[in-house]
Amino acid sequence: MRQKLIAGNWKMYKTIPEALQLVKQLRTKMEKNPPAKTKVVVCPPFTALAAVSETLKSSAIGVGAQNIFWEDEGAYTGEVSAKMIKNAGAKYVIIGHSERRRYFKEDSQVINKKIKTALAHKLHVIHCVGETLEEREQELTRDIVLNQVEWDLKNLAVADLKNLTIAYEPVWAIGTGRNATPEQAQEVHSFLREILDALFQPGVGKKMTILYGGSVKPENAAALLSQPDVDGALVGGACLEAGSFWKIIQASEKAG
Ligand code: PGA
Repeated sequence: MRQKLIAGNWKMYKTIPEALQLVKQLRTKMEKNPPAKTKVVVCPPFTALAAVSETLKSSAIGVGAQNIFWEDEGAYTGEVSAKMIKNAGAKYVIIGHSERRRYFKEDSQVINKKIKTALAHKLHVIHCVGETLEEREQELTRDIVLNQVEWDLKNLAVADLKNLTIAYEPVWAIGTGRNATPEQAQEVHSFLREILDALFQPGVGKKMTILYGGSVKPENAAALLSQPDVDGALVGGACLEAGSFWKIIQASEKAG
């Protein structure tokens, strides 16, 4: 059985007091009604990581960061290391999000270094891939995700995949209110498993947790999460409010 996972990517939202209010509300809901099969993770901004981790200590909610730099320390103004986020309580880290690729010019070489560093520090990586609208319209979706998986995960060992979750996030669906249809998500998720089999080892693909991300909301979560190859969601906008995030967690509990 693959682990179901609902992860919240807070992006650049929430001050420390706002962050604590959100996770306290979420923790209360989780304690009243603990999810039986869904792992829940929140990824606040760096500034709130330590406070959120402290508040969620001894709860079932995992904490992750949204990025790291690949060096452990040094003269890298503005950067934060794997060692630092671990020390602040993070066990997960999102790497390769399309906003990082687009606004901060992260390419596969950078993403590959960051993934290797995160794994070396025993962090669990949530690795994002996905095509732009233009690429989808040109029917390049498969080429793009194949390319991203191949180069972002270059020189990783099969054993590393245990600490890695892929999130398929079509760029055109992120923050746009326009989610991929369940069928579109299913098609790419199933293809991602084929890619993993081909690049790493036959059979490995079906063991991996693969999330869908891009405008996941309480209204569309059930249909997306009931697809056989969709194991969970990476949620942006809808995770900023405990009620809507909780509904998505419940949709995961009810799905298959
Ligand atoms: P969204 O963001 O749910 O707001 O579309 C998802 C993501 O970027 O991870």
